[in-house]
Amino acid sequence: MSTVEYGIEKLGPQVEADLSEPPATNDLDHMRPLPRISIHAFCESEETMRLMERCEADRRMAKVSFRINSGSILAAANMFASSPTPNLIILESAASPDRLMGELMELAQVCDPSSRVVLIGRNNDIGLYRELMRNGISEYLVAPVGMADVLGAAASIFVDPDAEPLGRSIAFIGAKGGSGSSTVAHNCAFGISHLFETETILADLDLPFGTANIDFDQDPTQGMAEAVYAPERLDEVFLDRLLAKCSDHLSLLAAPSMLDRAFDFGHDAFRPVLDILTQSAPVTVLDVPHAWNEWTRSLLASVDEVVITSVPDLANLRNTKNMFDSLRKLRPNDKQPHLILNQVGMPKRPEITPGDFCDPLEIEPIAIIPFDAQLFGAAANSGRMISETDPKSPAAEIFSQISHIVTGRAALKKQKRAGLEKVLSLLGRK
Ligand SMILES: Nc1ncnc2c1ncn2[C@@H]1O[C@H](COP(=O)(O)OP(=O)(O)OP(=O)(O)O)[C@@H](O)[C@H]1O
Ligand SMILES: [Mg+2]
Repeated sequence: MSTVEYGIEKLGPQVEADLSEPPATNDLDHMRPLPRISIHAFCESEETMRLMERCEADRRMAKVSFRINSGSILAAANMFASSPTPNLIILESAASPDRLMGELMELAQVCDPSSRVVLIGRNNDIGLYRELMRNGISEYLVAPVGMADVLGAAASIFVDPDAEPLGRSIAFIGAKGGSGSSTVAHNCAFGISHLFETETILADLDLPFGTANIDFDQDPTQGMAEAVYAPERLDEVFLDRLLAKCSDHLSLLAAPSMLDRAFDFGHDAFRPVLDILTQSAPVTVLDVPHAWNEWTRSLLASVDEVVITSVPDLANLRNTKNMFDSLRKLRPNDKQPHLILNQVGMPKRPEITPGDFCDPLEIEPIAIIPFDAQLFGAAANSGRMISETDPKSPAAEIFSQISHIVTGRAALKKQKRAGLEKVLSLLGRK
């Protein structure tokens, strides 16, 4: 049923009168809920603070992780110098145009370039507006503003059908069965959600044997099976019902892990699932089983990043080389997959050294994870992640580094050194 059918005309004159009270609300009627983004608002005035609180309570914000602080742009810069930046920063400032640009410059130095910024100012000045837009500010609203203005600005960035897709998709696949790809995928999904406080969805595509439900100590659900077999029902509301909450910012679309049927899929079977996932959260981590068929190839061709996990032996090396060659043809305009060497240094096992493994591939691994039967075994058997089981272990630090690299945050450190002006121009741009 279309939203139009629920329109005021159908509800009769009594409701029409009620709805006409705050005029701004009418503008919200047809607005779709915001996806799983994080928003942090910095308010200078009491009035804006109260407005943000009203926005936070709105049903369209139910999935949003929303923080409200009193403070200026400089307070935001101070805070983000030592904490992750959200998807959207809402700022209020009464500063003059000159001071405004200076303060935004300070914020830009500490801000993730993918964060978007909406500014509420006092200067009704078209020149200033143009300069702000040129420098990557997503929206400039002149005070006084209402709920419809704020939510509308957020929706135009994250809900608009013409907006860029919200989420990045990162697929993890092993070069050989049992190389540890799922373990790496789960720990990275947890790391991304935890370290950057970014809403993350982990999708387990190993329908018969997936282990994400065990690794996160979740009751088995049919999440992924229902999603892939009912693409016509797949919308944000249906997806919400299929997701299991693993931690503050991490949700799981779990595999059924049952053998009551065969799981054969066509070329594009996972396309609708991938589309809805990337519209719903800033990061989607896909745990892809070790297989090379129509749907795995098509999925690997369509994601933003591919991460291959290999163990340092000859079969893994042969498979890794073949996968790199094939993926180059499938993704001619993308950068190479990331390579992770896992289970390195297993006692008594003859291994190919990382150097000899990587030379023929002409690629540096983004991580070399040591073999640690005790730590990985303890984590797997207790339904916890490595950083929860032993936060001080080398493996925990390595998973943190991988989380930075696959989300582009390691490269960001270099950008920060590149100069303030460039960074300001990146602010708010994808
Ligand atoms: N660095 C490591 N040290 C010790 N054990 C590890 C390490 N990495 C993974 N493991 C263990 O190896 C086993 C296989 O891991 P996992 O299931 O993640 O592999 P996979 O590549 O996803 O396998 P599949 O081919 O079934 O998808 C698990 O028991 C896991 O705990
Ligand atoms: Mg696996």
